[in-house]
Formats: sequence, structure tokens, C-alpha cells
Amino acid sequence: MPTATAELPEIPRHIAIIMDGNGRWAKERGLPRLEGHRAGAESVREVMEACIERGVEYLTLYAFSSENWSRPVTEVKALMSLLDRFLDEKAKDLDRQNVRLLAIGQLDRLPEKTRALIERIQARTAHHTAMTLVLALSYGGREEIVSAARSLATDAVAGKISASDIDGDLFASRLQTAGIPDPDLLVRTSGEMRISNFLLWQISYAEIIIVKKFWPDFRQGDLFEAVQEYQRRHRRFGAL
Ligand code: FPP
Repeated sequence: MPTATAELPEIPRHIAIIMDGNGRWAKERGLPRLEGHRAGAESVREVMEACIERGVEYLTLYAFSSENWSRPVTEVKALMSLLDRFLDEKAKDLDRQNVRLLAIGQLDRLPEKTRALIERIQARTAHHTAMTLVLALSYGGREEIVSAARSLATDAVAGKISASDIDGDLFASRLQTAGIPDPDLLVRTSGEMRISNFLLWQISYAEIIIVKKFWPDFRQGDLFEAVQEYQRRHRRFGAL
């Protein structure tokens, strides 16, 4: 929740990003969509560096939604191998950058190789403290909420909890983001004004910034600008 007492401009503790527009970026250049995703992976690298530099504690990226499975098989495969390469190359960097990796979503739907890679890097980076990179993969906000409700219902039926025990905190503890503070800032690129089933519970109080640029054009400077805009909004809030 925002605080009315903040005097200094605060850095958002948690930034969540809907990385949109890779396909249109490629189309504008007469390139295959995969080139847009490749360039988008470069933006991921830059934005991560920028977040570390600014002291952002959590960065959550919507890398693959549960709806993305309905894309052509060739594009899904290309996205998965891009992700594999990114993880493979990033594994060492995460050590150097002291970044912890987490993944949320229906990970059992991912290819075995990708899942194993994620598990290995998660275990290896579990003690890192500079920043947590949360990759939302095969992720859907509604699915996450349904799964939390199911887990509470199972416990209630088993007599482990009663209905009156269920409050916001207990509910949040059954989400995959349990233990992660809610995003302070949600950024979406490519000008679309939609949430697209991303972190539905968690963004209740987030500031939302929509950027017109396509994701592959969103780089370090754009992240700094988004943080400044967040700080301007907070300063106004503090002055009230
Ligand atoms: C949206 O663009 C982007 C995605 C569906 C996937 C995001 C993936 C990356 C940025 C690259 C790899 C990710 C990592 C973490 C290395 P779109 O295809 O929906 O674009 P469009 O709306 O213009 O078609």
C-alpha cells in the first residue's frame, strides 16, 4: 500500500513488466517475428542491469502467458529455445550480478529441458541478494487465483482451516508469489491498455505506466524514465 509519509522519492521495490510488441517491431522492419523476440531478449538484459543499478529489489517479467500456448507451434518452440539460450547464457551473469531467479506459472507445461534449466538455476542462485528476477512462464493470473482457492478449499474440507480463517494474507500465501512484495509499478509497452491476465491479485495498488514503444525498443533509459515517472507520482501523493 502507498504511504503518505514518504519524503524522498522512492525507488519502486518491485517492478512488473508486460513486454509487448515484439511481433510488431519485427513487422515494421520486414523481419520474421522471431527477430522481434530476439531483440526483446536484449531489452530484458538491459532492463535487468538498469533495475540492479537503481536498487530495484524485484523485477517480474511476463515472458510467456498461458494464452501464448495457442500461438503457432513454430513460434512457441522458438520462444522456448530463446528462453533456454537466455537462461543458459544468464546463469553465470546471475552469479556475477548476485541475482536470484524465481519462476511462476504452470511450469509443468514447459518442455522438460526448460524446466530442468530453471530448477538448476533457481537452486544455484537461491542465496543471491542484489535482486530477484521473477520470470512468469505459462502464467495466468486467473489460473493462479483458482489454484489458491482450490488449495484453501482442500484444507477447509480436511478440517485444517475454517472458512473464517480465510483473509487476504492467508489467500496471498497460497499464490505463487507468496513471500514476494506486491509490484509498486506495472509497465506495459506497445501502448496497449490491458492487463492481459497478469498478476491480477498482486497489482491492486500498483502504479501503471503504459509506454508507446515496442518492447525491443524499450531499453535502459526507458526504464529510468519509468522510475522517474513513478517517483513524480509519489511526490505528488506525499504533498497531499
Ligand atoms: C510479446 O510480443 C512478447 C512475448 C509474447 C514474449 C516475450 C518474450 C521475450 C521478450 C523474449 C524472450 C524472453 C526472455 C525472458 C529472454 P508479441 O509477440 O505479443 O508482439 P505483438 O503483440 O507485436 O505481436
